[in-house]
Amino acid sequence: MARLSLALVTAVVSAAAVSAKCCTNLTVPVTVSARNGRFNLQPPENNIDVTDFILRLGKRGANYTQQVLEEIYTVSGTYNIAATYCEPAANEPGSVLQVLTHGVGFDRSYWDFPYANYNYSYVNQALAKGYSTFSYDRFGIGESYPGCDAGADPINEVQSWLEIAILEQLTTQLREGGLPGVSARFAKTVHVGHSFGSIQSYALGAARPDLSDGLVLTGFTQVPDYVAYFLYGANFVGVDTIPGLADKYAAGYLAPQNLTGVQQNFFASENFDPAVLEAAYKVGQPVTYGELLTLGAPAGVPSAFEGPVLIITGDYDIPFCGGNCTTPDSTFLDVSASLLKNSSHFETFVVPESGHGLNLEYTWPTTYGKILDFLQAQV
Ligand SMILES: *[C@@H]1O[C@H](CO)[C@@H](O)[C@H](O)[C@H]1NC(C)=O
Ligand SMILES: *[C@@H]1O[C@H](CO)[C@@H](O)[C@H](O)[C@H]1NC(C)=O
Ligand SMILES: *[C@@H]1O[C@H](CO)[C@@H](O)[C@H](O)[C@H]1NC(C)=O
Ligand SMILES: *[C@@H]1O[C@H](CO)[C@@H](O)[C@H](O)[C@H]1NC(C)=O
Ligand SMILES: *[C@@H]1O[C@H](CO)[C@@H](O)[C@H](O)[C@H]1NC(C)=O
Ligand SMILES: *[C@@H]1O[C@H](CO)[C@@H](O)[C@H](O)[C@H]1NC(C)=O
Repeated sequence: MARLSLALVTAVVSAAAVSAKCCTNLTVPVTVSARNGRFNLQPPENNIDVTDFILRLGKRGANYTQQVLEEIYTVSGTYNIAATYCEPAANEPGSVLQVLTHGVGFDRSYWDFPYANYNYSYVNQALAKGYSTFSYDRFGIGESYPGCDAGADPINEVQSWLEIAILEQLTTQLREGGLPGVSARFAKTVHVGHSFGSIQSYALGAARPDLSDGLVLTGFTQVPDYVAYFLYGANFVGVDTIPGLADKYAAGYLAPQNLTGVQQNFFASENFDPAVLEAAYKVGQPVTYGELLTLGAPAGVPSAFEGPVLIITGDYDIPFCGGNCTTPDSTFLDVSASLLKNSSHFETFVVPESGHGLNLEYTWPTTYGKILDFLQAQV
């Protein structure tokens, strides 16, 4: 029965996909300030230092962030953010805009993954349903890395807090029609995140509930107990030892040493094409010390968000569920109901047989079908 319904969803979603796709790449300068942490830490000199950092961060019952925090300070600047805006057809913007924020290990291609002729593209499915999409590389990552001369301090600058301020600024400009390269005005703006991108979308909804008309938090729960699984499973090393990343990023950027770390954290058993794992590793992006030190805190607060919320996570998700989201009478996703009491419609969905990297697993049709049904019904 489960197999049958999955097959039906697949058919419906694929049939709806159309070929029209009008995308523009943009570089958006945003001027923001945020309250970041200043940490008493030096960039790692080698992988022994990296592993020591991960072990300290993952220790049960400790708060390493608190231990190394020197002060909270105001960081500010103008940051160039690389983004892609897509419309269902040329000069025909959707009435609803989806702002897509990727998670750790990826860049914005997570939402429009080119492998197998864009078979796994969320953007394609969203466009087919008449939405416009705006995806971007989070600050410090991918094409939003400012370059070594400009610098992006991986300890004290590239942190959750600054990235959330950038998401807020991008959203404000998109809502006001003031984002260079996107002249369309949208009736509604919703935020769709994956993992760390969901944490940031949640935080935006909590800090500025007026800026979003709906939240879709994928690969997300508010159970903080399993972050260490992710830290250890990733097998993080310094980027200087990874071909392809070494030339670009400074010390203090980390990435999985090889495919195995990516598989453990993102792909559930027998639910993926091994070539997709390879493709994901090839375009894989690093994470900073500062991001890891500030990863979860933004989602640790109740939210006054009043719009509809969908939390959708793979049943075997490692970082947010410890490999099993289902408990005898509920799921870890439902924990958020008590933190989103003002939401007009709170819904959760556990994707069967799926891991953390929902978009890149065979079950993507179930995931996308559920997200787009939710948006069509609730926004
Ligand atoms: C936009 O940039 C991405 C990443 O560099 C590239 O893969 C893609 O082909 C570009 N798309 C367009 C429409 O120029
Ligand atoms: C750890 O400390 C940081 C910095 O004070 C704080 O923001 C965070 O909420 C703390 N985490 C936990 C789980 O208490
Ligand atoms: C990953 O790296 C470890 C340690 O170097 C090695 O033993 C393992 O074979 C590698 N796995 C893959 C898939 O490359
Ligand atoms: C929910 O709304 C009530 C009434 O407006 C408000 O007092 C409360 O602070 C809100 N909840 C949260 C978590 O902010
Ligand atoms: C997940 O954990 C629950 C207990 O919380 C257990 O009943 C269930 O069998 C586990 N699921 C799987 C697939 O192992
Ligand atoms: C596209 O995705 C579907 C659903 O996961 C999968 O069954 C199919 O094999 C994929 N096609 C290609 C060409 O990878």
